[in-house]
Amino acid sequence: MQTQGTDAVMVTETDGTKKRVFSGIQPSGELHLGNYLGAIKGWADRQNEKVNFFCIVDLHAITVPQDPETLRSRTRSVAAMLLASGLDPSRCTLFIQSHVPAHAEGCWLLNCVTPIGWLERMTQFKDKSAGQQRVSTGLLDYPVLMAADIILYDADEVPVGDDQKQHVELARDIASRFNRLYGETFVVPEPVIPEVGARVMGLNDPAVKMSKTHSAARGHAVAMLDEPEEIERSFRRAVTDSGNEIAFSDDPAKAGVNNLLGIYKVVTGRSKDDVAWDFEDARGYGDLKARVAEVVIEELRPIQQRYHRLMGDVGELDSLLARGAEQAEAVSGPKLREVKERVGLVLPG
Ligand code: TYM
Repeated sequence: MQTQGTDAVMVTETDGTKKRVFSGIQPSGELHLGNYLGAIKGWADRQNEKVNFFCIVDLHAITVPQDPETLRSRTRSVAAMLLASGLDPSRCTLFIQSHVPAHAEGCWLLNCVTPIGWLERMTQFKDKSAGQQRVSTGLLDYPVLMAADIILYDADEVPVGDDQKQHVELARDIASRFNRLYGETFVVPEPVIPEVGARVMGLNDPAVKMSKTHSAARGHAVAMLDEPEEIERSFRRAVTDSGNEIAFSDDPAKAGVNNLLGIYKVVTGRSKDDVAWDFEDARGYGDLKARVAEVVIEELRPIQQRYHRLMGDVGELDSLLARGAEQAEAVSGPKLREVKERVGLVLPG
């Protein structure tokens, strides 16, 4: 495991020309191909160009019930998976949200400038609370915590999948409102959504986004830790259509094939035209599914090997996360103090 002390902070402090990036991921279920292609792969590929903060958002995870032991082990497991996927602690700050109290405190300060109506209209809140008997205050407040995550780092860019766009837009609204009320304090962040891969769909139902919530359904998701045989089986069962044309398409009836081609495109990094060439000689959908499975298996194989090595040394993983938290605190702590000062709190002497 590569670590280089406080390099990431030094870059942050001395190089004002590099854009700042913040993104987060919940340790609430097994990471899947949607998380990897919509977010993690892009984070890893573009670390050199930016000053990066990546956060495992355990406080967000507990807005819905979690088994404590499972949450604890999943949090470390997500950290190991991010490192295995190429996040490099010498080029990014990787940390656990609850290790940096500025996030929860910042959330409170931002709550006090956020109209409740802004939260009630969030589609993810409506989806997650629909039909639930008990809905926590935390679930409603979820996007304000997410805004605190982002704006406490003066992030310019927030690379996320399509489903998080509305939350990032809310963070923009909250930052702008605070700036109007108290004077220029926060950078107003931009969501950065990949052109392809932003919405990887379920293999069993290409009308539904691949998600941790539906992961238990047979053939829905490819988990990043699935064995090759399991991955082959999931793709073999993938829902397509009754035709035989292998082409990118916006037609909802062709969403299954479009999803498979999108997965292939992001994994291989090829252009749409090159992908079309690759499948010119394909013998039907069976062939398409087998080839997509093959590139996914080859992409995940080295990640899985690195993951298992990293999980073999939990002490090293924990100390790396502790260093990440220190680096994150060094950036978000002073910002939080500035916010407190602006709203009129007496700072401790
Ligand atoms: P989470 O944990 O649900 O997902 C992590 C990232 O994976 C993306 N993603 C997908 N992309 C494409 N296709 C899919 N099927 C798919 N499923 C998930 C998500 O868009 C996300 O980018 N609220 C966030 C976590 C968060 C955060 C933040 C993100 C908390 N604070 C600050 C950015 C900045 C979430 O629940 O992501």
